[in-house]
Amino acid sequence: MANKDQTDTARMEKIVSLCKRKGFIFQSAEIYGGLNGCWDYGPLGTEVKRNLKDLWWRKNVQERDDILGMDGSILTHHAVLTASGHVGGFSDPMVDCKVCKKRYRADQIDETPTCEKKATLPNGEDKTCELTEPREFNLMFQTQMGASADENDANSVAYLRPETAQTIFVQYKNVMDSNRVKLPFGIAQIGKAFRNEINPRNFTFRSREFEQMEIEYFCRPEDGLRLTDEWLETRLKFYAEIGLDSEKLHVLDIPDGERAHYSEKTYDIEYDFPFGQQELEGVAYRGSYDLGKHQEHAGKPLEYFDEQTKERFIPHVVEPSAGCDRTILALICEAYDEEDLTKEGGKPDVRTVMRFKPCIAPIKAAILPLLKNKPELVEKAKEVKNLLQPFMNIFYDETAAIGRRYRRQDEVGTPFCIAIDFETLGQEEGKEDLKDTVTIRHRDSMEQERIAISDLLPWLLERIR
Ligand code: GAP
Repeated sequence: MANKDQTDTARMEKIVSLCKRKGFIFQSAEIYGGLNGCWDYGPLGTEVKRNLKDLWWRKNVQERDDILGMDGSILTHHAVLTASGHVGGFSDPMVDCKVCKKRYRADQIDETPTCEKKATLPNGEDKTCELTEPREFNLMFQTQMGASADENDANSVAYLRPETAQTIFVQYKNVMDSNRVKLPFGIAQIGKAFRNEINPRNFTFRSREFEQMEIEYFCRPEDGLRLTDEWLETRLKFYAEIGLDSEKLHVLDIPDGERAHYSEKTYDIEYDFPFGQQELEGVAYRGSYDLGKHQEHAGKPLEYFDEQTKERFIPHVVEPSAGCDRTILALICEAYDEEDLTKEGGKPDVRTVMRFKPCIAPIKAAILPLLKNKPELVEKAKEVKNLLQPFMNIFYDETAAIGRRYRRQDEVGTPFCIAIDFETLGQEEGKEDLKDTVTIRHRDSMEQERIAISDLLPWLLERIR
C-alpha cells in the first residue's frame, strides 16, 4: 500500500497535469525549456484568478466604508526600498555545493543534500554536497531606469517591487488627503510582486513573480492588537466563503523572537497543501515602523492629525497580506476530487471533478443541445447562450454524447450544465407543458432538475455570486 507521502505526491502530480491539460496553469516559456519560478495562467486559470480577485475586492473594498483601493507602480524608487529596509536586509541565506554547483536556501535544508555529481560513488564514500558557508542573497530584482542609464549611477537604480505594501505606505498621505478619511481606515491593493527566490518550488507555491492581495489598515496605537485579532477572524471567514475547508486551515501565533523586530503580533494562516502545511497569508501588526521610516528618510511629515483630540501621531498599521497565486493553488488542491462511480461487476469508472464553489468556478454554466444535427435544438441552445453570456462566463458545447460532455465539464469544475432537449421544444408527447424549460444538471450531486428558461438567469445569478 502507498504511504501518505506517496499518495500526496501522486495527487499533486495529477493536479499539475490537469492544470496543464485543461488550461489552468502553464510553465512560463515552456517551449524553451521553461523560465524557472514563473507561471502563465491559461484561459480557465485566468477566470479563476479574476473571480478570486473580484471577490477579495468586493469584500474588502466595495462592501466596506473604511477601505479604499489603489493600484501602484511596480517599478519602485530605490529610496522607498532603502527606507523600508529591503535594500539592506531583504535576503535569504544561500549555500552552494562546491562540487555539483547546486544552490540551496540554508534555512530550508535540514541535512546536507546528496551531491548530484557524487551520487554514483561506491557505497561507503561520502555522497553529500560540499557546502560553502551561508551568505546573504538579496531577493530583489534590480533594474536601471532611463535611456542614459549608467551601471554605476546609483540614482538610476530601480527595483521591481518585492511586496505591494510599500507603495501603499508611500501613498498613504495622498490617499488620506484626497479622500478626507479618518482613522481607522485601510488601503487595499492587488498586484504583482517579484522575488528572486533561491529555490522556487511546489508548483506555483513559491514563485519569482506572483500576485499579492494586501491591506494596510491604519489605526490608533491603542487599537492595533485588537484589530489584528479582528482581521484574523475576517480573513478566516473569507477563506471559508471561497470554499477552503476550515479543518485544513491553521493559525500560527508567531512567537517572540521569530517575528519581525517591529511587530508585536503576527499570525500566519497556513493551509494543508498536498506537499505539507504551508503559509497562505500573514496578518501582522507592524506598529508605526513603515510610516515612521518613510517619514524619517523622505523628510516629509506623515503624521495624522486628530481634529477632536488635537493630537498629531504616526498611525499604527495592521497588515493582512495574502498571496493570490497561493490561494488559487489552495483552491485548486481543495477542489480536486476523484469519485469512484464503478457499478458492481462493471468497468472501473472514476469521475474527476473539480468541486469549486460556483463563485470561483471558471465556467459558471455549460449550454448543451442534446443533438447537434437537429437545427431546432441548436437554435434554442444558442438562444439560451445569448441570454446568459452577457452576465457570466459560459461554455457552449455540441460535440460528443451528453454524458461525455457532462464529464468534461466536471473536470473543469462547471457547477451547472444546461441541456436543451426535445422537451424544451415542446415536442415530447404528453410533456408539452415542459416547453421552454431546460434540464439543469448539478455537478456535485449529478442530480437533474427542470427550470423554465425565463427563470434561468435569476436562478443562476443567485447561485454564482
Ligand atoms: N507585505 C508583507 C509581505 O509581503 P510576506 O509574508 O513576505 O509578507 C505575503 O508575503 C504573502 O505573499 C505570503 O503569505 C504568500 O501568500 C505570498 N508570497 C510571498 N512570497 C511568495 C512567493 N515567492 N511566491 C508566491 N507567493 C508568495
